[in-house]
Amino acid sequence: MVDFLNGAKRSCKCGELRGSDIGKSVTVMGFVAKYRNLGNLLFIDLRDISGIVQVAFDDQVDKAVFEKATSIRNEFVIAVTGLVRSRGSNINKNMPTGEVEILASELKILSEAEVTPFVITEDMKVGEQLRLKYRYLDLRRNYLQSILIMRDKITRVVRNYLSDNGFLEIETPFLGKSTPEGARDYLVPSRLHNGEFYALPQSPQLYKQLLMIAGMDRYYQIAKCFRDEDLRANRQPEFSQIDMEMSYVEDNEQVMEVAEGLIKKVFKECLDMDITEKFRRIPYAEAMEKWGSDKPDTRFDLQLKNLSDIVKDCEFSVFVNAVANGGSVRAINGKGLCNKMTRKEVDACAEFVKSYGAKGLAYAMFREDGNVTSSVFKFLSEEQKSAIIERTNAEVGDILFFVADTDKVVFDSLGALRCHLADKYELYDKSKYDFLWVVDFPLLEYSEEENRYVAVHHPFTSAIVEDIPLLDSEPLKVRSNAYDMVINGQEAGGGSIRIHDWHMQEKIFSLLGFSQHDIEERFGFFVDAFKYGAPPHGGLAFGLDRLVMLVTGTDNIKDVIAFPKVQNASCLMTGAPAKVEDKQLKDLAITVESKDE
Ligand code: AMO
Ligand code: AMP
Repeated sequence: MVDFLNGAKRSCKCGELRGSDIGKSVTVMGFVAKYRNLGNLLFIDLRDISGIVQVAFDDQVDKAVFEKATSIRNEFVIAVTGLVRSRGSNINKNMPTGEVEILASELKILSEAEVTPFVITEDMKVGEQLRLKYRYLDLRRNYLQSILIMRDKITRVVRNYLSDNGFLEIETPFLGKSTPEGARDYLVPSRLHNGEFYALPQSPQLYKQLLMIAGMDRYYQIAKCFRDEDLRANRQPEFSQIDMEMSYVEDNEQVMEVAEGLIKKVFKECLDMDITEKFRRIPYAEAMEKWGSDKPDTRFDLQLKNLSDIVKDCEFSVFVNAVANGGSVRAINGKGLCNKMTRKEVDACAEFVKSYGAKGLAYAMFREDGNVTSSVFKFLSEEQKSAIIERTNAEVGDILFFVADTDKVVFDSLGALRCHLADKYELYDKSKYDFLWVVDFPLLEYSEEENRYVAVHHPFTSAIVEDIPLLDSEPLKVRSNAYDMVINGQEAGGGSIRIHDWHMQEKIFSLLGFSQHDIEERFGFFVDAFKYGAPPHGGLAFGLDRLVMLVTGTDNIKDVIAFPKVQNASCLMTGAPAKVEDKQLKDLAITVESKDE
């Protein structure tokens, strides 16, 4: 039999008690984190969301209460009333409440607990699978609770800031029509319209633009987005955006200013960080050229250097062919890494870049004795070697890594390798933050797979006015009015000034290979809306989960989501996705075929 609260009220939280509370009578409630029975004295660590406090039961003080306390086990939920007293010489400096303990005079056992699948402690070494299966137990840890508390704080700061700046929080539907953010949709079959499907929003993009056409002026939403894509460390199939849109803007800077102000406010309120300077604006082309990435981490150097002109006629056919085929040969200089890396580790880097499409990774190690160990220097003349050394600023103790391939592969592989090296060999101060914007993205890129142009951001992004004439002649040269905010090499958010003229919107759709029929079918309602008056508008969406990761310093996106999914998009706690009743399928007129058949 467990006790009822029966009118008992909590007077304070466990983690709040301090020396100044000595002598007070208090009632606390929480989970039992630890118990130690010393025979005539029994100590309990009681945990609630605010922290842990020690509770003492003394059989000299109250035998009945003491007896009852002996039945307590870990994770029982109890209410304790008692006197706060000093721990005397047993002060625990590692606990904020370590000066005091509660001497219990009343005990209610509100819920008993079976032995949990793992003991819940801050430093427990339990596999992630098991922790996710019993997520509600893992969430009892202060580490995860403090992240969710910070997430709450961030969203509050965001709401206040946007509200102060005239943005209205408006919800948009989950059950909608497919939006083209570039990932696969999650579909929901319709019972009333058999054979037809809703698509869960990949983002509220279309709706927020329609809200501008509806005259709502400024909109925001902490919006759930759903994307059926391959998961990586910083991706989840359902995630949250801080989504915003504003009317009567035509210049990137107008949106970027509001968004930058928001981030500065979040860092000030949440981390007490004053960021006074304006974030750097880096053109996309420069970001690729220097860092091989459109989300460069500039906390460390390791910049890419183009060596194509130096090696285009050398004796190494791989280098020569890459340049001749329109690609390039580029290198990064791992400063001082020659002493830190073994040959085995250098070889491991060659494996690492393979996943980015590189066929090989050449290297040159500048040994302390003045010798150079290299897989490719033997193919190079003295002049070529000196030119490379000069351009890469290679010195004794350094290692150069070279990749020769198409620009895309070279950028992807060296861009990733520089981050990998910087992380592994701790080449930078991880406590520093690096904020920047990447601007002047190309509007379109060519997809070999789909055999057509695709939008780099999405099809509603406008072109830089001076580049519009190039749309017909050289579409790949057209730059867009898009911007991404990058924090510590992560894309924290992105957006653009939108097209607000339906002639232009139709032109872009047709450049993207949509037929008139496709446009009507998929976006007819959207294009039509622009025919009845549309203010110029633009906006942006931050990845809320990523922002919380950056503020709290975790590199695991699951840490910032109460009930996350794993790599294969399933939920280990609920077992979703799961089979459904035949009746449900029948209502939907759906028959399920095995994929292998
Ligand atoms: P975009 O697709 O760039 O833009 O998304 C905006 C931001 O959302 C975050 N994000 C994700 N976070 C976690 N898991 C994911 N799977 C995931 N995918 C994206 C990123 C990203 O910067 N409608 C446009 C915005 C606009 O143009 O206003 C959009 O959705 O941090
Ligand atoms: P090989 O002659 O094929 O043994 O290659 C000599 C060196 O060049 C090895 O270190 C390879 O890893 C490297 N290498 C091969 N292909 C490439 C490439 N596309 N880019 C850079 N290095 C390469």
